[in-house]
Amino acid sequence: MLPKRGVASAPLKGRRVLVRVDFNVPLDDRGGIADDRRILEAIPTLDLLRTHGAKTIVLAHLGRPGGRRDPKLSLRPVARRLSSALGTPVPLADEPVGVRALDLAARLENGQFMMLENLRFLPGEETNDPGLAAQLARLGELFVEDAFGAVHRAHASTVGVAQRLPSFAGLLVERELRELSRLTDRPAVPYSVVVGGGKVADKLPLLASLLGRASTVLIGGAIAYPFLTAAGTRLGATPVASGLDDAVREITAGARAAGTELLLPSDLVYERPGEAEPGIAASGNVPPEAVAGDIGPDTQRAFRAALERSATVFWNGPLGRFELPRFAGGTRAVFSGLEGRPGVRIAAGGDSARAAYALGLAGAFGFISTGGGAALEFVEGRELPGLAVLPDA
Ligand code: ADP
Ligand code: 3PG
Ligand code: MG
Repeated sequence: MLPKRGVASAPLKGRRVLVRVDFNVPLDDRGGIADDRRILEAIPTLDLLRTHGAKTIVLAHLGRPGGRRDPKLSLRPVARRLSSALGTPVPLADEPVGVRALDLAARLENGQFMMLENLRFLPGEETNDPGLAAQLARLGELFVEDAFGAVHRAHASTVGVAQRLPSFAGLLVERELRELSRLTDRPAVPYSVVVGGGKVADKLPLLASLLGRASTVLIGGAIAYPFLTAAGTRLGATPVASGLDDAVREITAGARAAGTELLLPSDLVYERPGEAEPGIAASGNVPPEAVAGDIGPDTQRAFRAALERSATVFWNGPLGRFELPRFAGGTRAVFSGLEGRPGVRIAAGGDSARAAYALGLAGAFGFISTGGGAALEFVEGRELPGLAVLPDA
């Protein structure tokens, strides 16, 4: 994809700049921030805006409040975390738009920040309501898109504002495009893609897009189960997403026709009611009352060998229920050996990123995207509305 006009070329001094960030961070049981990486990844752009004397108004969303105010999804803890990361106050306008937002914006001085409350408290955000987009655009003079994780959404704060103000890509968006383009713009071959995770139907478009583009697709996690069962393999009491037989057969046939190799788990780690220790069985021999939760050691070896031969590796989706130590071994074993080896290695997905850090695998990847759905759609080759709206460099 062509580079976008970047924030470094924007006339920032003394200008009120709207910057869209993806601060959709996971929250813990007590409403605290469970993982602040998305906040920290936006700091380079925010620092650049400060250094160049912009008056910065931060736009963000949190969760899916569906157009209504939900105090549990207030951006207040996020603004506090951002303020401590920047070492300067970041006042939050308690309504996303309104008198207080206008007042705070009018009083900003060069190099200062403010933030608007969760834009998804407003019904017009997700519908890209023209009235809301115009109201937001009136707060600023320039727009900077740094919310890579949200560029697949055509919302008021991603597309509507960008259509109404001179717009620029932020540093994080530029970096994401540079890195993820290595997967879409003639990737170095062999190109292997590891797909796992829980939401099977969600991953089928990704798999379909890889046929003929990837040399090998390695399938683990719950995504593997409908592939195994469509081939007649019984998986004991393991829940298998239903209704996918046709889609799975189409992908399998498409892979054969396109010369893309599909690798499925030959063995699995399972648990059985009343047994403390997990068991291991060939995929067809999972006991009737057992539930599989990870790939087994033979599969780990085969996956590792395929990745070691690859010049480019893309990973989305944990290979097992990594949150449980007994099912974390597959994901850990497949990627741990890759650290320090040459090659392009990129991971994307909220849970994949969490698994990479939790299992000590971050060093195996040259780049871990901040995007979930956005990164997958990019890799699938789809047009992302929040990028399409930005001028090329
Ligand atoms: P990402 O957010 O990286 O795109 P997903 O959301 O698709 O990843 O999947 C992550 C979830 O998949 C994790 O919570 C993990 O427990 C679950 N998962 C992985 N393997 C299995 C499996 N074999 N059975 C059930 N759930 C699984
Ligand atoms: C994400 O977390 O993937 C982005 O912030 C987009 O969130 P959404 O899927 O709720 O639109
Ligand atoms: Mg997920």
